[in-house]
Amino acid sequence: MTKKVAILMGSHSDWKIMEHSAATLDSLGVEWEARALSAHRAPRLLAEYVEKAEENGFAVVIAGAGLAAALPGTVAALTPLPVLGVPLASAAFGGADAMLSIAQMPAGVPVGTLGVGRHGAVNAALLAAAILAIGDAEARSSLVAYREAQTAEAVRNSDVAG
Ligand code: RP5
Repeated sequence: MTKKVAILMGSHSDWKIMEHSAATLDSLGVEWEARALSAHRAPRLLAEYVEKAEENGFAVVIAGAGLAAALPGTVAALTPLPVLGVPLASAAFGGADAMLSIAQMPAGVPVGTLGVGRHGAVNAALLAAAILAIGDAEARSSLVAYREAQTAEAVRNSDVAG
């Protein structure tokens, strides 16, 4: 697999969750690069990065953000690449604010929206890898191996008590 995944986030403070996307991509052998590029605080820098994403070898963008969470939608507005949005929890609304901001995109500018927080970050990486694996047997095998390992772990841990 040669194409890369860009992991973008609205703030360095988002990395504690978005690093789960990175770790999941690592476990699948997918190359990634991470940047904190706020749609609100650094819009021009974000636009510059996203407009060059395709020519820089990126095939999928994962974008995580909290609060008003404009980042995933802004990225989707600037590139035809698939964009996977990860809503991040805030103290006030627990991520419902970001979830609605990311999911409620107007027709024509899609963002594939995942669940809030770590679960969403992991699943965004798995979905990114699945997109990259279309027509790529080796990449598909990595995903199947991931699922099999997950199932084996769940079976090993199935005893709760007694
Ligand atoms: C959003 O504001 C970021 O995605 C982050 O989740 C949130 C808070 O950012 P900081 O104030 O911690 O930099 O844009």
